[in-house]
Amino acid sequence: MRKKELQIYVYEYDTVLELPEADQKLILAAREASEHAYAPYSKFNVGAALMLENGTLIKGNNQENADYTDGICAERVALFYANANYPNTKVEAIAVTAKNKHGLVKDPAQPCGSCRQALVEAESRFKHPIRLILDGAKKIMVVENAESLLPFAFKPDALG
Ligand code: THU
Repeated sequence: MRKKELQIYVYEYDTVLELPEADQKLILAAREASEHAYAPYSKFNVGAALMLENGTLIKGNNQENADYTDGICAERVALFYANANYPNTKVEAIAVTAKNKHGLVKDPAQPCGSCRQALVEAESRFKHPIRLILDGAKKIMVVENAESLLPFAFKPDALG
């Protein structure tokens, strides 16, 4: 038997102004995107903004449906748009924000499991880490790659 310990690095910032300028810009774009979310059912407006290697900024927001299970998260809207339109361009970073009925969420917005899986796939596809910048009123959290939020992920190499 072997007991193993995993280590992930999480960087926390008290305000947006402490972040590098490029990250600040991405958070503001995510906040802007959240304004246009289609979330009449949950009233939980999520915004995501991606930075591509070529400097292109892509925004997405959650898109809900009266058939609740047909909705899709902000992160995947943005990521799949990027992958569809810039299939050969690495994704460098994603900022995620969310608003509930009280405003910006207190704790940093966390991508759901499916979005983590989709982000890990993009890391495998482009052989490049994607920085996650997770916005919240109490603090902003940054992690160096999506895989640190999905240890032991199911990845393409498992298919053989
Ligand atoms: N949502 C996202 O857009 N991203 C996440 O990572 C978590 C959840 C959306 C899905 C749904 O429209 C609403 O938030 C409430 O779950």
